[in-house]
Amino acid sequence: MAKKSVLVLHGPNINLLGQREPDIYGSLTLEEIEQALAERASKLGILIECFQSNHEGALVDRIQMAVNSFDAILINPAAFSHYSYALRDALSAAGLPLVEVHLSNVFAREPFRHHSVISAVANGMICGLGLQSYLLGLEALVKVLEKQQV
Ligand code: DQA
Repeated sequence: MAKKSVLVLHGPNINLLGQREPDIYGSLTLEEIEQALAERASKLGILIECFQSNHEGALVDRIQMAVNSFDAILINPAAFSHYSYALRDALSAAGLPLVEVHLSNVFAREPFRHHSVISAVANGMICGLGLQSYLLGLEALVKVLEKQQV
């Protein structure tokens, strides 16, 4: 059987990880996070492709293109989580298994971060665990995909 593939998306300002508010987001760079994801993906026997953008439309375009070429999506929508109906609609229309992740515990922060417009169209959401949020999100998606096969 062909290997399953997961599209990993990161929203605005995630490219600044490492230098951006390290007390909140940790000291790992985006490159280091993607390296750890690639290693976990290889252990899980799946393929991943990563894409970061500061632009809502670029993320919507990438999601639309993913429909026929990926089996699932892992996304840290960053600030778009809290207000982007365009991103939510694109993810909903894609109809792929979806896990939303956040490095920080959004519920322990400012009230505007407590609500995500994405969560309702995701299979699940993981936050507050730094790099582990991403790694656990990837593992969860593999479980969701395995269930689809039975
Ligand atoms: C974030 C949390 C968001 O509220 C914030 O806008 C981000 C990063 C996180 O990973 O903790 O940019 O998604």
